[in-house]
Amino acid sequence: MSTDLTPGSPGNLPATTGTADGAGREQPLYPLAPHQLRLTDTDPRAAKRAERQVATMFGLSALLIVAFVVAYVMVQTDQYLDLGNIGKFQLSNVLLGLTFGGAVFLIGAGAIHWAKKLMADEEMVDYRHPAATDDETRASLLEDFNDGLAESGFAQRRMVRRTLIGALALFPVPLVVLLRDLGPLPGTSLRETIWKAGERIVTDVTLRPIRPSDIPVGGLVNASPGSLEEVQHAEGNMNERAKAVIILVRMTPEQIKSQQGEGWDYNGILAFSKICTHVGCPIALYQHVTHHLLCPCHQSTFDLSDSGNVVFGPANRRLPQLPITVDDAGYLVASSDFHEPVGPSFWERG
Ligand code: FES
Repeated sequence: MSTDLTPGSPGNLPATTGTADGAGREQPLYPLAPHQLRLTDTDPRAAKRAERQVATMFGLSALLIVAFVVAYVMVQTDQYLDLGNIGKFQLSNVLLGLTFGGAVFLIGAGAIHWAKKLMADEEMVDYRHPAATDDETRASLLEDFNDGLAESGFAQRRMVRRTLIGALALFPVPLVVLLRDLGPLPGTSLRETIWKAGERIVTDVTLRPIRPSDIPVGGLVNASPGSLEEVQHAEGNMNERAKAVIILVRMTPEQIKSQQGEGWDYNGILAFSKICTHVGCPIALYQHVTHHLLCPCHQSTFDLSDSGNVVFGPANRRLPQLPITVDDAGYLVASSDFHEPVGPSFWERG
């Protein structure tokens, strides 16, 4: 324990007697009371008992972390704890709070108990200095630090050390477990849409099938998959709808410089994802003379006559093209799903 015996002294200077000890240090005006040894300093059995108490606290902390995980997985959110007049509480919240709070408390209590009962108990006088520490003092501090490290018993007291390491190692587990609340893993959902071969292309909102003759050269139509209506109320439909929306544009076949696949147009009608590959804004600002499609969010510009390539702006990936044809009834249909993921780029997209 370090004690500063300079009460009431002006400035940073210690109140001293004006006499020096054998090491040339001035003696404090208010000398230390005789040092009282702790029971753990004189009785090895008391020290062992304190060590076991510390280890128990660290061990219980580890168990509470395990209990936290079990409660998180096993207790449903519709289970409640009824405490009568006090109130009704969601059981999972109570258990998660108690287990995690208890684990934190026990690590702290164990560390304090360790410091108070087992670490070195020395009283000393620290003199204040009016200026920055000199090299000698810094060296002395370093020495003190190393002494403190040795005196803490971290190296010798294996049971305490191991249980503390165990408790601290499990400590981040709740943070990892809580990642589950971010929702299910996306799986292939970022790579696939509900487009498939033979899927009718219908107008967006009104869901009317489209014939090639409905689209004039220079025109643009917002469209969706025909089966979207069937899954309109199904879970995740909004995601499917958001991923599957397309635009149809028409130009003369001679104006098409390149496509993402051989013959993916139908008589100059091209289908592209409507979702910007930058951060996903819907795009429909079409300049039919240049065949450029402009995203209103950050001005990425795609050349639909040249494979939907980026000609300007922050998007770093072309707009995915949907291969199309017509069915027996003469309506526009998809030839397959997109051949590359739609929407914003992410770490696995080229
Ligand atoms: S979202 Fe289209 S340019 Fe940013």
